[in-house]
Amino acid sequence: MKKVCVVGLGYVGLPLLAYSKKVGYDVTGYDIDKNKILNLQKRRVTTDDPEATRLLKSIPSEKFTYSMPDQFFDYILVCVPTPVKTGKRPDYSYLEKAVSSIAERLHKGETIIIESTIAPGTTRTLVVPILERKGLKAGTDFYVAYCPERISPGDKWPLPRIKRILGALNDKSREKAREFYTNILEQPPHLTPDIETAELTKIYENMFRDVNIAFVNEIARVCDQLKIDVKEVISAATTKPFGFMPFYPGIGVGGHCIPVDPYYLIEEMEKKDIRNTSFFRLARSINDSMAEYIMLKLYDSANKNGILLSRSRAAFLGVTYKPNVDDIRESPALKLLSVVSQKIAEIRVYDPVYPEYNTVDSFEDAIKNVDIIILAVPHNNFIENSKKIIESPAKIIVDCHNRLNKKEIILKGKGYVGIGR
Ligand SMILES: NC(=O)c1ccc[n+]([C@@H]2O[C@H](COP(=O)([O-])OP(=O)(O)OC[C@H]3O[C@@H](n4cnc5c(N)ncnc54)[C@H](O)[C@@H]3O)[C@@H](O)[C@H]2O)c1
Repeated sequence: MKKVCVVGLGYVGLPLLAYSKKVGYDVTGYDIDKNKILNLQKRRVTTDDPEATRLLKSIPSEKFTYSMPDQFFDYILVCVPTPVKTGKRPDYSYLEKAVSSIAERLHKGETIIIESTIAPGTTRTLVVPILERKGLKAGTDFYVAYCPERISPGDKWPLPRIKRILGALNDKSREKAREFYTNILEQPPHLTPDIETAELTKIYENMFRDVNIAFVNEIARVCDQLKIDVKEVISAATTKPFGFMPFYPGIGVGGHCIPVDPYYLIEEMEKKDIRNTSFFRLARSINDSMAEYIMLKLYDSANKNGILLSRSRAAFLGVTYKPNVDDIRESPALKLLSVVSQKIAEIRVYDPVYPEYNTVDSFEDAIKNVDIIILAVPHNNFIENSKKIIESPAKIIVDCHNRLNKKEIILKGKGYVGIGR
């Protein structure tokens, strides 16, 4: 039975470990976070994919470890974070440490595959030299490939159904990595001519979302000026059978990937003295400005409705970066929370998916006797209760993702604040 080790057991690593187990690999999960390993050993960790969660519980507890095992693995898959540090600079320290711990005990014949998102050139110039430190040669003594994860937490796309792209150092590396992904996925991976193409493709895919969301956020601001409903514009444009794809305005872009990955490419280009990164930066700054934008619209509505924000009470619903996902990394809702907290006298925070910030115990407590309701994240739970939001005594409803019925809210005599409508 072939042996697989997954390094980094987070949103990406855990489902990968689970589905490797499903197809019969002898799997080991390694993470530096001791608590996470203890929880995995005690079967206390869940993922948002029920099948992956079930599979994880079938892995023997001794297969979870917080030190990199010194044994031969056919495949070692690296799924560690690649965030940005101060100044929005890429932070490769997790990747460097993870690869160093692999290098320390590297065995001949192993295949190392990086799944973390990184700038083009990183596998070749950062990862390979670390792995070669002990004298083994990449491409002949051991094999190296890059296969970025494409999962989207909360969306109904389990890992095996998502087609992958795969770049490798040489033919032998490609052959090894291809065999692994062909086994765990429903369809074989798309092979790119080299590693750099796969690295850039991953960032391009995520930046595609960032720039298009920035674009629709700008269109939404135009709609606010022209008093046209952006929802109607998007739904009309979507009738075009080709050449158009809808994106939706909101309070920004969050998570570990979309607001972070552009900076990996920007830094790499600027390092090479290639300066045409202004388009990428502009998209970032538009999306980053949306929390302040909705705050301005709330001001305006408060003035019109005779409400003094400094004396009012608000319910703030949702803090995660996207609906129904317990992840707050780079969450625009948290940014908005910090903006509104400076202006509104009292804020009741409630998020059933991520309770850490809750100041009240229930949705009902949150919306009771408030002047303003801010629907920051449209979790299913909130949308199912939207009647209660609309029928509450609140005088202003802030609908950060245009998910509520504006007409009904206005008919109830309340102020409505959306984006582009
Ligand atoms: N979350 C997503 O939806 C998603 C989707 C596609 C790609 N990615 C990319 O995949 C990578 C991982 O993202 P994630 O969301 O799973 O991160 P995560 O933070 O959820 O998990 C990463 C795990 O790696 C562990 N770790 C850190 N340093 C380590 C080390 N030296 N050795 C072993 N373990 C270590 C951490 O303790 C953590 O458990 C990132 O590059 C991310 O950009 C993420």
